[in-house]
Amino acid sequence: MPGKTRQVLLVAGLALGLAATSAQAGSHGGGKKMEPELISGAPAALLAGQCAGCHGTTGNSIGPATPSIAGQNAELLVEMMKGYASGDIPSTIMGRIAKGYSEDDLKKIADFFSKQKFVPAKQPFDAALAKEGAKLHEKYCEKCHEDGGKKADEDIAIIAGQWMPYLQFTMADFLSGNREMTKKMKRKVEQLIKAKGEKGMQAVINFYASQQ
Ligand code: HEC
Ligand code: HEC
Repeated sequence: MPGKTRQVLLVAGLALGLAATSAQAGSHGGGKKMEPELISGAPAALLAGQCAGCHGTTGNSIGPATPSIAGQNAELLVEMMKGYASGDIPSTIMGRIAKGYSEDDLKKIADFFSKQKFVPAKQPFDAALAKEGAKLHEKYCEKCHEDGGKKADEDIAIIAGQWMPYLQFTMADFLSGNREMTKKMKRKVEQLIKAKGEKGMQAVINFYASQQ
């Protein structure tokens, strides 16, 4: 059963992720513009401008497969970029992008986005699932993702109001072992899947998406 659950999540996640990603890359006008080395060392706003095509000018993403990064903790943003660059966090695009920046650049970019206001994504969700998900979140996730998932600190990213397709393919990455979970999160996620199956995970994701 867990095997099947993983596969379903992974396939759904990948399909959504790739579709939205290639659409963004296309509307972006090719690879040249994304070449970060060109302006390494530039002022923060100019550096952050290199992220705007996908993450929006204030870090509130336009496409559903691209996470919003506004209002996240600056240290966490730097850690995530390093995780992409090293391959510790799997990615379709960010691994290539993250490699183009110095530590100093990353700090400037992270500082810029951490000071922007996180705007919850306007997106459809299943109200009944979200209601069930609120309870499951409380039981399995709230301990770390406090305040219904709105918490942002150096260890925790805002997940309330994050794009649902992004949450889906991220959870698929976690469940397949592609992206590593902390031991404690892994235990809770496994308990949730064991008790409620894939539907339970979808319920929690719908709960985050419902916070608009
Ligand atoms: C071409 C589109 C694109 C550009 C340009 C881009 N990103 Fe991303 N970003 C993505 C996608 C898609 C993801 C999801 C991971 C993946 O598949 O690469 C992501 C994920 C992230 C995450 C993880 C957020 C989370 O909550 O997990 C951070 C942080 C991030 N990007 C920062 C940046 C920064 C900073 C820049 C500019 C220097 C940037 N990105 C430029 C598309 C882009
Ligand atoms: C013991 C603490 C802990 C528990 C419990 C926990 N998490 Fe996490 N979670 C983390 C940490 C640490 C990270 C990595 C930092 C980050 O991305 O927020 C994380 C990351 C995530 C991310 C990726 C965020 C991003 O933007 O990349 C998602 C989604 C997530 N958790 C969902 C859940 C769900 C759903 C549950 C409940 C079933 C849960 N977590 C339970 C600690 C926890």
